[in-house]
Amino acid sequence: MNKIVISVSDIVTRLGLNLIHDGLSMSVKRGEIYGLLGGSGSGKSTLLKEMIMLVRPESGEIRLLEHNLTSITLTEIAKLQRRWGVLFQSGALYSSLTVKENIGITLREYTCLPDTLIQEIVRVKLRMVGLSDGAADLYPSQLSGGMIKRVALARALAMDPELLFLDEPTSGLDPVGAEAFDHLILELRDILGLTIVMVTHDLDSIWTVVDRFAVLGDKKVVAEGCLADVIENPHPIVQQFFKGARGKIRSQNGK
Ligand SMILES: Nc1ncnc2c1ncn2[C@@H]1O[C@H](COP(=O)(O)OP(=O)(O)OP(=O)(O)O)[C@@H](O)[C@H]1O
Ligand SMILES: [Mg+2]
Repeated sequence: MNKIVISVSDIVTRLGLNLIHDGLSMSVKRGEIYGLLGGSGSGKSTLLKEMIMLVRPESGEIRLLEHNLTSITLTEIAKLQRRWGVLFQSGALYSSLTVKENIGITLREYTCLPDTLIQEIVRVKLRMVGLSDGAADLYPSQLSGGMIKRVALARALAMDPELLFLDEPTSGLDPVGAEAFDHLILELRDILGLTIVMVTHDLDSIWTVVDRFAVLGDKKVVAEGCLADVIENPHPIVQQFFKGARGKIRSQNGK
């Protein structure tokens, strides 16, 4: 659990005229669920996109699964992309494809597996995220918000990734749905041995599933660690997040 699989060192990110990160560093250990917390616009999604190479930092270094993303070759990128799964903030299912087609799309894109095997893998992934076979032929418009998140998660798991990136996986879910989804994430991490990076605004998720997390603010990581440590950090941005949370943590005696 102590091996570092993602390390972000002193990155500077600029998008258009906006300076998004200015000397941001953090690291994720194998097997942990790592949270990215911070106000809207603090650069959480951008940081996640940098880890999967959709955005490039202007300077600094990102190392992921022993590759330096700043000097990686195209062949290495192609191999690396199969080792992670992503659930984007928007959920982003293809509306014209059924559930089974949405889940199978990466397998069709990245592998030469026969259709019967792809169908079988899709069925397994559907069950893995708690959906029945009956959901396979539905279209996204026929799904509830919670089901959409589960299908997007099944798609992220399609290639049996080692790393899972989740951008606000519980946003838009009611508290019961969000709690169920949190437990699903925990269960999948334990069963599949995943390392998970999860952007979240949800303090309940920080409470229940996240092992360690970073608080983004002032274009940097202003605090990093487990809940018990971060909550004691005097930085005003951290304190603002956890206002009132101290009582809860004390009454629960930690996570
Ligand atoms: N393509 C882009 N061009 C210019 N600015 C961008 C671009 N994408 C994002 N930004 C800006 O970068 C900043 C960080 O955006 P980002 O989406 O990473 O924030 P976030 O922390 O994920 O916010 P939220 O919690 O609202 O999702 C925002 O100010 C946003 O307007
Ligand atoms: Mg975001």
